[in-house]
Amino acid sequence: MKIAILPGDGIGPEIVAQAVKVLNALDLKFEMETAAVGGAGYEAHGHPLPEATLKLAKEADAVLFGAVGDWKYDTLERALRPEQAILGLRKELGLFANLRPAILYPELAGASTLKPEVVSGLDILIVRELTGDIYFGKPRGVRVCPDGPFAGEREGFDTMRYAESEIRRIAHVAFQAAQKRSKRLTSVDKANVLETFQFWKDIVSEVAKDYPDVALDHMYVDNAAMQLVRAPKKFDVVVTGNMFGDILSDAAAMLTGSIGMLPSASLDANNKGLYEPSHGSAPDIAGKGIANPLATILSAAMMLRYSLGQAEQADRVENAVKAVLAQGLRTADIYEEGMTKVGTAEMGAAVVQALR
Ligand code: IPM
Ligand code: MG
Repeated sequence: MKIAILPGDGIGPEIVAQAVKVLNALDLKFEMETAAVGGAGYEAHGHPLPEATLKLAKEADAVLFGAVGDWKYDTLERALRPEQAILGLRKELGLFANLRPAILYPELAGASTLKPEVVSGLDILIVRELTGDIYFGKPRGVRVCPDGPFAGEREGFDTMRYAESEIRRIAHVAFQAAQKRSKRLTSVDKANVLETFQFWKDIVSEVAKDYPDVALDHMYVDNAAMQLVRAPKKFDVVVTGNMFGDILSDAAAMLTGSIGMLPSASLDANNKGLYEPSHGSAPDIAGKGIANPLATILSAAMMLRYSLGQAEQADRVENAVKAVLAQGLRTADIYEEGMTKVGTAEMGAAVVQALR
């Protein structure tokens, strides 16, 4: 089993180191190879996704990814900015299915900004399409507006689009995920305004015929945003496009109190995947040893489950994380009075300890 380790920027290296520690504590043989990505890739090779890094990611059975980005790269031309690394990896590896679970661990019920009764026991799964939509649609750019009331002025534009097969394949992933859970699926669209999402809704409804055991409903994205904070437990599996999924998954993450707890998997058609925490590079706390490594450790668990066929080991890692929470260990982002505050490396070590 070959794993490409791409730590990236900001807190990326610190948190990935903890997940590697946990993987190495399992009784499995991995071949791990590390490469630079994001701002680190730009510094080392002049590109956020250096060729050697992409090659390694393509060859590996799975990719463990930290985070990319730092304000200091904001003035670079877009093609050289760190974010292009993750977008490029998703596209080049065909990672169209992004699974973003939002689970509220009972020990952390107090960490949410919402009332405990609204969020306690929350366990939802956002299935976000990851390689289409306005993120990748062409044409895009800045041009001189050809006609209409703003003719002759400069305008920025992007293209929202989805091909039928792109909608079908993500719908299948979502229906199958729903079959393994409560058999309820909400498809989020903006069919009242956008052609792309009327089409999305129609295709998802067609795919639903293959899954008569799953109850499908449709919701407009604005309403979905509202329902997510009003009554999040009404959702189980949510499927949506790239743009809406980006926004809704951040909102869903925050229901749980800390984005520092949430893993994610981005899968291709053969379950090869890239695994990354849902949070970003947090340059403000980088290098301080205080970042929460649990989202990355839980991402490694998802990797064991989805790409490496090691479901039992995945359970073991997830149980170890629950155990350290039960012991009262907390990084700063999830700290509450009366708990034991620990740093990044201590938290990683505690998970390793709990595995034993
Ligand atoms: C995410 C991030 C990325 C996205 C950025 C870093 C390009 O926000 O993974 O949600 O927009 O997809
Ligand atoms: Mg995002």
